[in-house]
Amino acid sequence: MSDSIRDLWDLTGKTAVVIGGSKLLGYDMAAAFAEAGATVVVSSRNAASAVSAAETLAEKYNVATLGLAVNVQDYASIENAAADAIAFAGRIDVLVNNAGGGSGNASGDLLQRPVTVIEDMIATNLTGTLLCCKAFGAKMIEQSPSGGAVINIASIAGLVGRDRRMYSNGGVEQQPIDYAAAKAGVIGLSRDLAAAWAQFAVRVNSISPGGFGPRQLPNAFADEYATRTPLGRMGIDGQDIKSSALFLASEASAYITGHNLVVDGGFSSWR
Ligand SMILES: NC(=O)c1ccc[n+]([C@@H]2O[C@H](COP(=O)([O-])OP(=O)(O)OC[C@H]3O[C@@H](n4cnc5c(N)ncnc54)[C@H](O)[C@@H]3O)[C@@H](O)[C@H]2O)c1
Repeated sequence: MSDSIRDLWDLTGKTAVVIGGSKLLGYDMAAAFAEAGATVVVSSRNAASAVSAAETLAEKYNVATLGLAVNVQDYASIENAAADAIAFAGRIDVLVNNAGGGSGNASGDLLQRPVTVIEDMIATNLTGTLLCCKAFGAKMIEQSPSGGAVINIASIAGLVGRDRRMYSNGGVEQQPIDYAAAKAGVIGLSRDLAAAWAQFAVRVNSISPGGFGPRQLPNAFADEYATRTPLGRMGIDGQDIKSSALFLASEASAYITGHNLVVDGGFSSWR
């Protein structure tokens, strides 16, 4: 392994797959990998969105890219994508499981929340992450001893309970308990998978972002959030997730596995 800091962060010659990589945080991470020289595969449930994001990345960073349709609730689509990524690039060095999300139109109150919506949340955020680890991880293990790096996107919701006044004062629906359950599961599965797959040189880590926005959120909510955050603001798209993802994807973190990297401006450390 090189001892040059620049080389440690470089992804030239590597292939990175970002599930749910066509927009927002997923796109930001895909862009970071492309800028670092990786061949990048991005997926979306919608094939046209994936292809369009892949084309934008190729144009902007002059790297090879592929866009694929993946629904993380459909294991056949995940397995097909893993096979397509290998057919395209020959290997998979980095997998980011970013598909998920915490909001929706249903009530966030557990007592009011429809069972089907709860099950859907767990299926996408937790089971979907497990299934992608299974299908893409198999390809990384076949590459052993060169292995790979898996990054599962969790959330501070999996780490701390949140003051519900933040939502009511901010004029938004509270984030549901099933989201916290799913993301806590993602942190747990990442830690144990790291233990299981270390023998294949596959490192497994998670990232727990804090709230990014304001996006479509009311300013009142952004203010509520900021006052509960030591660094005084929400995370910024296009900026705050990129270097954390690149760190865990690259040789810069070669001796780090089973870690949950919290990217939240200090939100989860304040009481
Ligand atoms: N935005 C935040 O404040 C925040 C905070 C903490 C964690 N996160 C997590 O970060 C990740 C990215 O969040 P975001 O806010 O950038 O985007 P997002 O929450 O809008 O969605 C993430 C991606 O997942 C995709 N997706 C949803 N269901 C899917 C399915 N069944 N199959 C395949 N793809 C599916 C969406 O289309 C989207 O591209 C999510 O896992 C989210 O839970 C976000």
